[in-house]
Formats: sequence, structure tokens, C-alpha cells
Amino acid sequence: MALHRLLALMTTMHLAGVLCNVESTFDEITPQIYEPSWMYKCVPDEGCQRSEHPRPTLSDNSTSAFFDSLDVCRIVCGRFGGIWPKPVTAALSSQTVKIHPNYLRYDLLNVPAETRELLVEMTQVISNNLLAECGGHVTEVVDTQVVVIIVVKTAITSLNWNTDEQYMLDVQTRGGEVSVHIEAETIYGARHGLETFSQLISSDKRDFSDVEHCGLVLVSGAKIRDRPIYKHRGLVLDTSRHFIPMVDIKRTIDGMATTKMNVFHWHATDSHSFPLEASRVPQFTRYGAYSGSEMYTTEEIRELIHYAKVRGIRVVIEIDAPAHSGNGWQWGREYGLGDLAVCVNAYPWRHLCIEPPCGQLNPANPNMYRVLRNLYQDVADLLNSPPLLHMGGDEVYFGCWNSSQEIISYMKDQGYDTTEEGFMKLWGEFHNKALQIWDEEISAKGLDPQPVMLWSSQLTQAQRISQHLDKERYIIEVWEPLNSPLLTQLLRLGYRTVSVPKDIWYLDHGFWGRTVYSNWRRMYAHTLPRDEGVLGGEVAMWTEYCDAQALDTRVWPRAAAVAERLWSDPTSTVYSAEPRLQRLRTRLIARGLRPDAMSPAWCSQHDSKCL
Ligand SMILES: *[C@@H]1O[C@H](CO)[C@@H](O)[C@H](O)[C@H]1NC(C)=O
Ligand SMILES: *[C@@H]1O[C@H](CO)[C@@H](O)[C@H](O)[C@H]1NC(C)=O
Repeated sequence: MALHRLLALMTTMHLAGVLCNVESTFDEITPQIYEPSWMYKCVPDEGCQRSEHPRPTLSDNSTSAFFDSLDVCRIVCGRFGGIWPKPVTAALSSQTVKIHPNYLRYDLLNVPAETRELLVEMTQVISNNLLAECGGHVTEVVDTQVVVIIVVKTAITSLNWNTDEQYMLDVQTRGGEVSVHIEAETIYGARHGLETFSQLISSDKRDFSDVEHCGLVLVSGAKIRDRPIYKHRGLVLDTSRHFIPMVDIKRTIDGMATTKMNVFHWHATDSHSFPLEASRVPQFTRYGAYSGSEMYTTEEIRELIHYAKVRGIRVVIEIDAPAHSGNGWQWGREYGLGDLAVCVNAYPWRHLCIEPPCGQLNPANPNMYRVLRNLYQDVADLLNSPPLLHMGGDEVYFGCWNSSQEIISYMKDQGYDTTEEGFMKLWGEFHNKALQIWDEEISAKGLDPQPVMLWSSQLTQAQRISQHLDKERYIIEVWEPLNSPLLTQLLRLGYRTVSVPKDIWYLDHGFWGRTVYSNWRRMYAHTLPRDEGVLGGEVAMWTEYCDAQALDTRVWPRAAAVAERLWSDPTSTVYSAEPRLQRLRTRLIARGLRPDAMSPAWCSQHDSKCL
């Protein structure tokens, strides 16, 4: 019997949940192809368990349901199968049905015309992800018809904190046909529904097999109702300390889409380098990029923002200021505009900035605000509407401003003394001038004033913030450690916040100084207050000690742990989450990411046996 026909026959038999005694046929197979060939069983309350024998059909109970692959076992095992993040409610069948992408059809008749083009792109991403389960080529062809009927109720295509992301997903298999219903208020809800649908599908590739056979199986029945707990589920990526190529950023976005994260917080610039091309101010990259190739062109930025949108992700561009600004701003004198920034690359650095190279914008120079306006105009041109700007605002060093005669005399003119409080006034003045410029540029586009984001700092201390920063306008991203009272204090004062506790959700910790690494369990175990003022949280990938080479293993699967915390905030334990996260990890690998290992491979083959 031809090998591929035999394999097809065998997998059909396994699918039916009944294993016949195929002893005689097994003997025909060349041993080196099939040794070892473990199978997996879903054991209630234990998860997927590897068979005791490499050929379970020869020795084990012939009526037990064994799966060809661990990945298939995981999508039907447990109440939530292989879905990550965990949905609010799910009822899944324990049966699967074979499908092939060629016989998968999307019905978009019930979506508003204005959303159709975007939704088509969204379905293309999903179809590609299904192919990726089989490394791009599904060799086992079955002609089961799969129709995905999508209903979207509104024509909204903008993405913000009010976007309705809930969805319903139903899968039914009848008479050799599969019908999938996805219903949502917005296309973003529908996209999440499609993502979950894709997580009900797995390749049936055998773990140890080098036979070129790959088919797709789908959980044959499902009823899922799902919506996020937090509106803001973000990841910060720093592209200044190290330049991260676009292809790596896009792969990170792919991982975020897989885990239903919805904000890509792009820490695009810092004092180290300025890779973001600004068409009105070409000097930024000319003086600020590490090299001519280590920059993002306007065209690339535009494309990235669209790429993210198709994946349900809003891009927030951060222009960190007034501190963390140096390289890219050092050309003012040459162009007759005076010092746009002060203490750029200055030494000794310890009194001038948190880490070298130093640099802080010069608030005494009106030309600095003109250049900043041009930069904001470019950012406003790029971002989707309504645009969300992150103004940075962290770690201002007064020693830097205090070292500039120009700034000291400006402060005198304003009636600010050179005490801490005097510098606070100067700092607050900077943010309010910057916000006014942003408002003017937004209003020139016919838009209402938008809130902006700002890191927590000395200026956002509870006793000080209200004097400087309007709570209707600034959303404070709190990066204080867990034991800090600041988050609670700001909530009490009525500020909206995004939480990034640095001692637990910073992905760079454990790689420098005395910082401590948080593994995924620790990141997952942390919960945020359920408070209207907490929009959500972020994980942060600062890149002083990370570049594109290490990016994936630093970020994944840990960011996924936080993604689930922010999506469904489950009360269940880290341990019950682990098998689903293992399945997510293999899904990320199929989609081209390189997530870090979570346990010895033996432990991933024996759920709950290594606790
Ligand atoms: C086979 O399955 C039956 C029924 O589930 C069970 O009682 C029996 O112990 C099993 N035998 C082995 C060898 O696992
Ligand atoms: C600024 O410098 C002056 C003169 O050296 C000093 O007296 C003052 O304390 C400094 N201010 C701050 C906030 O460090």
C-alpha cells in the first residue's frame, strides 16, 4: 500500500476516535520513519499525556482516543482547548473534522460595505496562518466545505479605547459540512473571532515524523462568547537603543495579533538614536539614525500602521521629551536655530541623565517648539484617526537644564527660581506647550482634541500632578514598582492610567544591573485593579541589551501571559494555563516567531506532571 494512502487511512480512523487493530499494516512500514511515534491522550484534569508505548495501538487499550500529535490533542483537551487568551465562555466538542484551506470560504454579505476591504485583508491573514500550521503546504486534501459567515453590525473602522471588541463564534458540523458563524459589533471584534477560529485548528503533523504529510483538523463544534476586560493591551518596543528592522517589528505585531493585544506602543526615539523619518525635518534621521539603513522611512511607517490595523492593533508613536532627546536634535546651531537640545552626548553624564548619551530639549528656545511642531505634524499625518501620541515625559534631569546659562536666564524671566519646584514649573510648561501644539495640529485636521499619554515621573507625583497636568488630557502610564502607591493615588485623583509595573512586566529586567527576571508565571500571576480609571497595561521591551537577534525569546511567550491577564483576567491558576500556553507557543512558532522554551520537552508531553 502506498505510504501516503495508508497514512490518510490511519488518520481517518483516529479521527473517528476508534483505533482498530492495525498491527499488520504497521509492520509494513519502514521502522526508521516511524520510530519513535508517540501518541497523545487527553486525560480529564491532567491534560494531554504521551502514550506509554511508542505504538500505543499495539499494546494500549484499543478503544482509547489517541491523537497523532500533541498539538491536536491540545485543541480539544480541557474546557478552553488551545485558545489563548482564554475566552470568557467556551463550549468545545472533543471531536475534530479534517479541513483544507481550498474548501474554506468567507461569507461577507452581512458586513457593511465600508468595512469589507479591511475585513478581506483580515481573512487573508487568518488563511495564511492556517497554511502556516502546515509550514505553508497542506498536503492532505479533503473536500469538506467550511463556510465562515461573518456578521458585523457597525461600519466603524477606527480603533480606540471605545472600540467594541466583543464577538460570538459558533462552529457546527453537519453532514460533512462545517458552518462557522462570527458575529460582532465591529470588524475588530470579528477579527478576534477569526483569530479564535484559527485557534480551533491544528496541523495533525506527527511530532517525530519526517514524512511529508500534513493535514488540518478543526474542532467540530464550538460555542464561544468573548470580550476583553481591559481596553488597552499593549506592548512597548524601544527602537532607539537598538534599531529593530521592520520585518522584526511586523513579526512582533503578528504575535500581538495572535494574543489579541491591541496597542503597539512604539518608543520610536530616544537620546541614543532617532530612526523615525520626519519628512518636514530630514535632519532628525540624518543626525540621529545609527546609519543610513537603520531608519524607518515614511512609507515603511505608513505600511506598518496599516499592517497593525489589519491585525486589530493601534499604533501609538512615542516621541520621548523633554528628556531622552539628544541624537537627532543636535543640528540647531549649524542651521541658525540655536540649541534645540542641551547636554547632548555631554560628560560626565551622571548628573545630566539617567544613562549615556545625555540630551534634553531646550525649553528656552522657541525654535525647539517650531521643530517639535513639524515633527508632530508628521506624526499626525501618519497615525490613523483618532491619533494617539505618547509624549514621553520621564526622567527629566534638572542638572542638565541647570547646566545651561540660556535656560537659567529664561527661567529668571519667567519668574521661576532654580530650586526643584522652579524646574518643575519649567517641565510642566513644556508639556502644556507641547500639548497645545499637538492640539492645534489635530484641529487643523478637523479633529477634536485627543488625550495623550505620558510616563509617570516626579511631575506626576500625587501632590504635584494636578498643578501641571489636566486629568482630562493626560493618560498616565505608571511604570512604578508594585509597592508604589502612585497608581492608586492617581486613580483616586481621577486620572486615567495604563499600568506597567517595572519590576514585573519589564521584559528587559534580569539582563542588566540588579534587575530581576520575571518568568511568564510571575508575569501572569500579577493582576491589575478593576477600576474604570485603569485602561489596561503593557509589557515593555527596552532594548539596551536586546536587538533583533534576541527579540523573540525576550518577548515571547512572556508577553502572551500578560495578554491573557489583560484580555480575560482569569481567576484560574498559572498551572491550569500552562498547557494552553504551550499550544500558543507552538502556534507562534508555526507563524514564524521564535518564542523561548517554557519547560523541558518531556514536561510539555506530560501536562501537569512537572508542577
Ligand atoms: C481499557 O479501558 C477500559 C474501559 O475504559 C478500562 O476499564 C481498562 O482498565 C483499560 N485497560 C487498560 C490496559 O488500560
Ligand atoms: C542649580 O544650580 C544652582 C547653582 O549651582 C544651585 O544652587 C541649585 O541648587 C541647582 N538647582 C537644582 C534643582 O539642582
